[in-house]
Amino acid sequence: MILVTGATGATGPGVVRGLREAGVDVRALVRNESKAQPLRDMGAEIVVGDLDKPETIGPAVEGVDKIFLLTGNGEAEAEHGRNVIEAAKRAGNPHIVRYAGFGSEKSRIVRNQQEVEIALKSSGLPWTLLMPTFFMQNTMLGAQTVASDGVIYWLMQDAHLAMVDVRDATEAAVAILTGSGHEGKTYVLTGPAAISFHDVASAFSKALGKEVRYVDVPREALIESMLGMGLSEFTANGYAELMEGFIEGFADATTDNVALLTGHPARSFETFARDFAQVFGASP
Ligand SMILES: NC(=O)c1ccc[n+]([C@@H]2O[C@H](COP(=O)([O-])OP(=O)(O)OC[C@H]3O[C@@H](n4cnc5c(N)ncnc54)[C@H](OP(=O)(O)O)[C@@H]3O)[C@@H](O)[C@H]2O)c1
Repeated sequence: MILVTGATGATGPGVVRGLREAGVDVRALVRNESKAQPLRDMGAEIVVGDLDKPETIGPAVEGVDKIFLLTGNGEAEAEHGRNVIEAAKRAGNPHIVRYAGFGSEKSRIVRNQQEVEIALKSSGLPWTLLMPTFFMQNTMLGAQTVASDGVIYWLMQDAHLAMVDVRDATEAAVAILTGSGHEGKTYVLTGPAAISFHDVASAFSKALGKEVRYVDVPREALIESMLGMGLSEFTANGYAELMEGFIEGFADATTDNVALLTGHPARSFETFARDFAQVFGASP
């Protein structure tokens, strides 16, 4: 039995589906029962719990062999991670596969995640760290202006970043959770190349058959737009700090971990742009 936390977010359902397709028993921790049905339909057992409330985590970790530990990037992330690790220790000796971003510790989000990493490594439990860089799918936040004006706005200057497709990250997670020999290992996941947002724009130009250009935005504009999307001050600033780390070259090198774990090469940004062209305004 594998427990998946953060099962109702952007990444969790893909992990649950992949595990179910591999024939594994899955338990999903959800805090809001109304979001559980799609996971039930995949065959997952549901436990309602809140990572803010340690007393609700016990039933979720009871009897599990492994835990896919994904926590949202809010201010309480370190506490959420520690709460699961403490509950897991009380429940037995499950292998925890911690899913966290690969980013500079300039970011308050990364510093929060490092606290979880420290707690995990000193817990005595078997652990694996899975750390994707920046997801190609994040560029979907700019889909509207790519479609309407042929412009992608971002805060990345001319930096090169080895961004990764979330589909590869999900497959890698499933491979670790269903495989063996991954204890005590850290896998940084990247795409096949470190690319700039000018490269991103030219991949969209090719996929959409029209000119797309990249326009850099100041930090304040990025934060304002994230606050407008409902993100908290903590998370919006944390993401801006992450981008600043990338601008300084934090993730400008590739790894071959996607191929190692999934058995196929990491998807390129060109592939991503082609596969999701309709999201960016291409006609069906
Ligand atoms: N975006 C990137 O470029 C990138 C790259 C590498 C790694 N990552 C990492 O990916 C992770 C985020 O994954 P994601 O995008 O799938 O997250 P997400 O969409 O923000 O989902 C967060 C999940 O956590 C759940 N959650 C939040 N607070 C909770 C609580 N108190 N109790 C129980 N569950 C709670 C949410 O439940 P609700 O549905 O109820 O809100 C949701 O299922 C982060 O660790 C991030 O660092 C992201």
